[in-house]
Amino acid sequence: MTKNGEPFLPGPTFAAPYHLSGDPAETEFTYGRYENPTWKAFEEAVGALEGGDVAVFGSGMGAVSTLLLALLEPGDPIVIPSDAYYNVRQLAHDLLPYEVREVPTDTAAVVDAAPGAKLVWVETPSNPGLDVVDIRAVAEASDATLVVDNTLPTPLGQRPLELGADYVMASATKALSGHSDIILGYVGGRDLEAVRTARGKLGTIAGPFEVWLAHRSLATLDVRLERECANALRLAEAIGEHVPVRYPGLPGDPAHETAKRQMERFGPVLCFTLPDAAAADAFLAAAEMVTEATSFGGTRTTAERRARWGGDDVPEGYVRLSAGCEDTDALVQDVTRALASALERA
Ligand SMILES: Cc1ncc(COP(=O)(O)O)c(C=O)c1O
Repeated sequence: MTKNGEPFLPGPTFAAPYHLSGDPAETEFTYGRYENPTWKAFEEAVGALEGGDVAVFGSGMGAVSTLLLALLEPGDPIVIPSDAYYNVRQLAHDLLPYEVREVPTDTAAVVDAAPGAKLVWVETPSNPGLDVVDIRAVAEASDATLVVDNTLPTPLGQRPLELGADYVMASATKALSGHSDIILGYVGGRDLEAVRTARGKLGTIAGPFEVWLAHRSLATLDVRLERECANALRLAEAIGEHVPVRYPGLPGDPAHETAKRQMERFGPVLCFTLPDAAAADAFLAAAEMVTEATSFGGTRTTAERRARWGGDDVPEGYVRLSAGCEDTDALVQDVTRALASALERA
């Protein structure tokens, strides 16, 4: 219950140590690496959306690394889809001492690899391939701890904990905060004590101002996603008339049936394949309403030729596009004009 005179959303609390006398165990806020009231307010809000307890981190990768270090012992076998965000795969291969089983982003392949694994990592829809894994089927088929990267759909598009996942993880940098100006991540689950302890020890923490900005952005998450997903579907339909396109919301997409069962919204991201790198670059140069950038989920439509980074198994002309909140007709017109001009040159 709010009191008269209180702000709707209290401003960020900046504190390294808090005033503290007597027994620290009797005080909620002791030191800024362990607790912060601005984190707590954001965690409660996102926790209500994900349906669990939530802990915020300074980045999506901070959330990933802290969760893995909190849950696993060196040498533990883990299953990771080959199309999971490449830094997650690289972290598990190169930096952390696990036995990695990399499998295609496919429900049957994940289930087949799961026996004996301590943890199964699923990113669905995957990025940048946009394949979908059936979360409930994996949860029911395996005893391993199931973690779902929910970055792309956000909790207003998909709630992995309700579908049987043990933990949900997301980069809040993307659609959740949605304005392309902060880096942030979170982990959700039923019991996050070990995860919070690891966060305090590793220092993978978020600045209060970023957390406050993300909290402020939650108020518009629903309306942003509504427009972004509508724009993504219209773009996928229009682009699909000319070149191969992937969008889980598109009837006829190989992922659509599974996506329909577990997603309430299909997200802002679609991908399409142009004949080669030159055609993709020509498209990006010609599209006036599309900003060339990596990342996704912002209010402004962005796209990139994904193969320019290396690390993903995609063709040279593969474009990942994240639909923003622009006027739908104007955006579709601009993108189809740019596509036609890129295809003419190819
Ligand atoms: C699916 C997915 N998970 C995790 C991350 C890492 O998040 P961050 O950039 O906030 O560290 C990203 C970043 O692109 C991502 O796309």
